[in-house]
Amino acid sequence: DLVNDLLGLQQSERDLAKILGIDRCFIMTGDCDFQDRVLDNMGTILNDTLAKILPEGNNVIVVMGGHTMAQVAYQFTPELSTKRQLTFVPGRGGMGQSLAMQANTVCSIMADRTHGESQSMYVPETLSEKTYQPLLEEPSVQMVLKLIEQSNVVVHGIGRADEMAERREVDPNIMHLLEQKKAVGEAFGCFYNQAGDIVYKVPRIGLQLERIHSIDHVFAVAGGHTKAQAIVSYMNLAPHQTCLITDEGAANLILKK
Ligand code: G3H
Repeated sequence: DLVNDLLGLQQSERDLAKILGIDRCFIMTGDCDFQDRVLDNMGTILNDTLAKILPEGNNVIVVMGGHTMAQVAYQFTPELSTKRQLTFVPGRGGMGQSLAMQANTVCSIMADRTHGESQSMYVPETLSEKTYQPLLEEPSVQMVLKLIEQSNVVVHGIGRADEMAERREVDPNIMHLLEQKKAVGEAFGCFYNQAGDIVYKVPRIGLQLERIHSIDHVFAVAGGHTKAQAIVSYMNLAPHQTCLITDEGAANLILKK
């Protein structure tokens, strides 16, 4: 198709997209589990692709957190803002111990790099039932949730279930459940098994998985051989318009090369 040609996709990238049932894939050389620079290359291709396909004018980009997102953000360039006004919005609250990989932080880096704007959401991502409702009514939270509703782009990572359960500091009961139900991956607070069935959903504020089906441009950025299973299984849940940016470490396992 025309867009694939415009983006100069290789045959293996077309094959991978077909296997995963999504519109597009990019495969970077190497394995980011071994080489950090592979993440930089994933960031560059994300920046360049956004520059090619985002519409002129206002764009609201929802950004999730994580180690991948945090590194990818540094490859964004001011050219992305040519003829566009960009607003970066966190798709989730804060979680885990590292400040560097919070969605708020990633938004702020992307806005800095592109000379765009960003918003922050100062809530813990995981909330008890009791605090959830009143926090939702806070004007500052409402404002961000409204922007999320208006978004036309989302950029997100895909995590391994074991790593994400640890980072989210889920309680031992949930940990047990995830093991029992054989969770392999996590995205948007949803833990899923090999078949892509959701086995546990974290009660949380932010962008929900169901909502991304109606967002025009969806970018999943995840690589490394250790994430191959998490990536394949997630694609059973992913909207078809997902563009996966990955590396040979993950792709070769999926393509069984
Ligand atoms: O939801 C998944 C995470 O964003 C993935 O995080 O890039 O640190 O593995 P990571």
